[in-house]
Amino acid sequence: MFAANKRDFDQTGNSTGGKAINMQANLERILFDEKTILRRLDELAAQISADYHGCELTVIAILNGSLIFMADLLRRIPLPLKLDCLSVASYHGGLQTSGELIFRQVASPDVAGRHILLLDDILDSGTTLDAIQERLETASPRSVRICVLLRKTKLRQRAIDADYIGFDIADEFVVGYGLDYMERYRNLPYIGVLRKELMPS
Ligand code: IMP
Ligand code: MG
Repeated sequence: MFAANKRDFDQTGNSTGGKAINMQANLERILFDEKTILRRLDELAAQISADYHGCELTVIAILNGSLIFMADLLRRIPLPLKLDCLSVASYHGGLQTSGELIFRQVASPDVAGRHILLLDDILDSGTTLDAIQERLETASPRSVRICVLLRKTKLRQRAIDADYIGFDIADEFVVGYGLDYMERYRNLPYIGVLRKELMPS
């Protein structure tokens, strides 16, 4: 057993006394179970593989949210590709984008003259993908497309859309399958809506 750590807090900022939170109980409902997600990834991967047939891709996964999505999706794409990751932050642990993007690490992948596929967990305000796409364009890629697991149906701060979309969802805060709330819930194998009372209003 682990000793209680005084610095363990639950999502409301209260101490949990070192006890683990009950992740599933903190969900209002499950939106997509694992089987549904993987079935959709089969379709997405087939579409991407057909579109890029005969091409070599550079896939750039945006950390940390797209990690699990990326691992499951790429293993379904039988094309030669290069993989790199990009780490950015805009949320600072909260619910709303700050509008300002911090590039913690600039990708050093092969971009010039190559087909780039950007992978992200979710298209929300559009700030993140818009800024990343803008930066990549300066490195003269042959093409840039965007693939997201989820797309929120809402008016975005930036006029940006994705080329490949796993699922369209309502404008609710979701966690699981890579998506977090204050860095938790990423390891849930399904996607669910976080209970509203756990989030600041
Ligand atoms: P943006 O608002 O489109 O820039 O979204 C940027 C990032 O915010 C995403 O990559 C996610 O990490 C995070 N995000 C947006 N909506 C949600 C959500 O519903 N759950 C978890 N993370 C989210
Ligand atoms: Mg996040």
